[in-house]
Amino acid sequence: MTEGNIELLAEKAADLIIESKRVVVFTGAGISTESGIPDFRGKDGIWNKYDPDDFTIQKFIAKPEVRKMQWRLLAEGGLVKEAKPNAAHHAVVELEKLGKLDCVITQNIDNLHQVAGNTPEIVFELHGNMQFVRCLGCNKRFPMAEIIVRVETEEIPECEHCKGMLKPDAVFFGEALPQWVLNEAAKRASQCDLCIVIGSTLIVYPAAYIPMYARDAGARLVIINLGSTPMDSQADVRIDGKAGETMSKVLDQVKKKINK
Ligand code: APR
Repeated sequence: MTEGNIELLAEKAADLIIESKRVVVFTGAGISTESGIPDFRGKDGIWNKYDPDDFTIQKFIAKPEVRKMQWRLLAEGGLVKEAKPNAAHHAVVELEKLGKLDCVITQNIDNLHQVAGNTPEIVFELHGNMQFVRCLGCNKRFPMAEIIVRVETEEIPECEHCKGMLKPDAVFFGEALPQWVLNEAAKRASQCDLCIVIGSTLIVYPAAYIPMYARDAGARLVIINLGSTPMDSQADVRIDGKAGETMSKVLDQVKKKINK
């Protein structure tokens, strides 16, 4: 993708945003790699290092050694480090400030859209949020920071209220997505007039249905991703570029055109 193309395509995406009233932004791990959090299937993806099969809910519940491995990984910061939002997250906040954003629907568990400044009530986390831990016994939720400090001594921390099993509040493979989040996200996607996909391979379901619901409802589609996705041929604008740089260019164009 040559530089010139990105400028031209960013301008086309900006025109679609200006014409839209209800933009849904759908994000994947690719929006957070510039914040230092590895994605899953990109060139330095997590699944190149770990076996996704070890991250199923079935194994977590059945095997203490899997729980021990996962808590150790978290304690070492292996899955979700102290990360800061990057230019792409900030561009999505600007969309909200411009009154263009209906909601963010994210597959990410890093909380970076909220930290960047998007209103939490319009951030729909399909795969949960790694900043929290839930007890599978009494369903109480705790801040991850509170639990992770116990891993050093307890290896597999248990719920202090009911001695139940504690699990990071992210959705594991084989685990159902939070139904109300999925329902609300699907509804918003089918009511939007523009869906902007940022940093996702769009191959994990049911999350990957979201841009399809938007498209099927007649919304325009912008895809910003390094590498191809199965929906590329349906995109009105397809930018094979870095999320931070591309979204910054798009918002610069939007603001320039609005303030013309
Ligand atoms: N800018 C643009 N695209 C990027 C960037 C970047 N800076 N960095 C990575 N990418 C692209 C990668 O090339 C890849 O195509 O983002 C995409 C990320 O895809 P995945 O790693 O598959 O992440 P995601 O689509 O979010 O995965 C969905 O799979 O393992 C599960 O639960 C996990 O939520 C995750 C789900």
